[in-house]
Amino acid sequence: MAAKSNGNNNSLASRYACWPSLQANAELLKGTSITQLFADNPQRVEEFSLEAAGLRLDFSKNLVNTETLQLFSSLSEQAKLPEAIHALSTGEVVNHTEKRPAWHSALRSANTSEEVNQTLLRMEQLVNAVRSGSWRGYSGEAITDVVNIGIGGSDLGPHMVSHALMPYRHTDGSTLSCHYVSNIDPSDLNEVLAQLRPQTTLFIVASKSFTTLETLSNANKARDWLLQHDSDADTGKHFIAVSTAIDKAVAFGVDAENILPMWDWVGGRYSLWSAIGISIAMGIGMNHFRELLAGAHAMDQHFANAPASENMPILLALLGIWYSHFWHAQSYAVLPYDHYLKLLPEFLQQLDMESNGKNVNQNGEAIDYNSGPIVWGAAGTNGQHSFHQLLHQGTRFVPVDFILPLTSHQTSATDQQQHRHLVANCLSQSKALAEGKSLQTVKQELAESGLSDTEIETLTPHKVIAGNRPNNIISFTQVTPRNLGALIALYEHKVYVQSVIWQINAFDQWGVELGKQLSNKVFNRLSGDNSETFDASTQALIDHYTNANSPTK
Ligand code: F6P
Repeated sequence: MAAKSNGNNNSLASRYACWPSLQANAELLKGTSITQLFADNPQRVEEFSLEAAGLRLDFSKNLVNTETLQLFSSLSEQAKLPEAIHALSTGEVVNHTEKRPAWHSALRSANTSEEVNQTLLRMEQLVNAVRSGSWRGYSGEAITDVVNIGIGGSDLGPHMVSHALMPYRHTDGSTLSCHYVSNIDPSDLNEVLAQLRPQTTLFIVASKSFTTLETLSNANKARDWLLQHDSDADTGKHFIAVSTAIDKAVAFGVDAENILPMWDWVGGRYSLWSAIGISIAMGIGMNHFRELLAGAHAMDQHFANAPASENMPILLALLGIWYSHFWHAQSYAVLPYDHYLKLLPEFLQQLDMESNGKNVNQNGEAIDYNSGPIVWGAAGTNGQHSFHQLLHQGTRFVPVDFILPLTSHQTSATDQQQHRHLVANCLSQSKALAEGKSLQTVKQELAESGLSDTEIETLTPHKVIAGNRPNNIISFTQVTPRNLGALIALYEHKVYVQSVIWQINAFDQWGVELGKQLSNKVFNRLSGDNSETFDASTQALIDHYTNANSPTK
C-alpha cells in the first residue's frame, strides 16, 4: 500500500547530494525577507530575471539568493535533467506505464513528421472551407456556429486558447462563433443548442479514445437534435471528429474524410497542438493556429538548449520544488491579469494536477514526499475582491504566478486608462505580497488619522501585513497566438521537470479510471438494476435519488 506523503523528503535527500545544502540555504533565508534581499543587492532585478520565447520572467520577489540558484543548477545535474529533456524532446518513451513517448513538441516543430504535416494540411482545408462559407450544411446554408464536444484535454486546452484569442476571431471577415460543451450534465449542451440552428451548426467530436462517456453521450444527443429538426438531414455535413480511434468515429457516423487522426504519443492534456485544436483554428484561422504552434516551438527550443541556470521552465519548476519541500507550500496560485486568460487556471489544473498527482515513483514504489501541488487562481482584478485576503494575511503560504500581458487588445482612450488600472493593480499586488505593511507603518498611519493610543493598540495587529509572500511575474507584450503558445509550453515543461525531480510519471492518470468504473455501477443501480450492492452511505444516497425522482413525487 502506498505510504502517505508527509513531506519528509527522506528519499529526495538521499537521492540528491545537494538536498542538505538546499535545506540549509532555506533555513538561512527564513531569517531574512524579500525586502532585505532587495536592499542587499541593487542588481537583484537584472540577476533574477530571464527572457525566452517572447516571455519575461521576473523572479526577483522570491525567497532565493545567488546560492539558491547555484544549488538549483546542482539539482538539475543530479536529477539528470538534460538527459530527461532530451528524452522528452526526441520522442523516447517517457510514459513507462503506457509504454509511450509524450511527444507533443513534435506537433509544433517545423521539421515534424509527414503524418503530422498531412494532418495539419487536412485541418487547414476543413478550417478554410468552414470559415469561407464553402462548407454547407444539409439545407445548403453556410456554417455559422461550431460546437466542440470533448472533455478534459479535449476541451480545456482548446476552450482556454479559443477564449484567449478571441480578438483574432474575426480578423479575416469570418463571423463564425465557437462553443464548448463538455459536461454530462444535460444543461450544458441544452444551453448551447438553445442558441443554435441545426442547419448552420457544425459539431466537432474531440476524443482521443472515442470512448469517453460524456463526449459520446453529448455527441449522440447532438445528432438526435439535428434529426429531430429534419429526419432526412445529412448528418455527415454537420460532424467532424478527431480521434486515435478512427473506426469508432466512423461507426458513430462521421464521414471518413472528416475524421482527423491523433496519436497515442500525444497525451490528452497536451493535445491542443494536434487536430484536437481544430476548434481553435476554426475560430482564429489556420495562420494564427500556426503562430500558436510557433510560439510553443520557440519555448521548446529554449527548454532543450538553454543551460539550467537560464532555462525558464526549469527555473519555474525548481522554485515550485523549493517552496513545496522547504517552505511547506501546498498550493500555488496563478493570477492572470487579462480577461482573455481567465480560463488559464482551469487549464493548468488539469495540466499540473492530472500529470503530477501521483504517489508512487517510476518504479512503483511509494514516495515519502509531496508531489504535485494544488493549482488554483482566477483573473485579476476579480480575485483581489475575493481570495487575495488569504494570500496577504492567511496562515497558509501560497506562492503566486502573476501573468501580465503589457498591452491590451482594447484600444480606446478609456480602455487604455482601464488597462493602466489593471496593470497598476497587478504590480501593486505583487509588491504588497512581497513587502507587506510593517508594524511601524501601521502605527504611524493610525496615529496620523487621529486615533487614540488605545485604539491604535487594538487595531494594529489586524492591519499589519507580514509580506514575504513570494511571487513571479511572467510578462509579455500582448495575448497573441505566439506568446500564448510559449506560455502554455512553459508550464508544460515546468510540470515535466518537476516530475523528473520527483521521479514520477507525468503522463498517465490511472486514478481517474476508478471513478469511471464506479460511476457505471452506480448508474446501473440508479437505472433500476439491483444486482450491485453498495456501502451504506452510497446506498442511502441512491435511495434519496430514487425517492426524489419517483413518479409519485
Ligand atoms: O479524465 C481522463 C482523461 O483521460 C483525460 O486525460 C483526457 O484529457 C480526457 O479524459 C478526455 O479523454 P478523450 O479525449 O479520450 O475523450
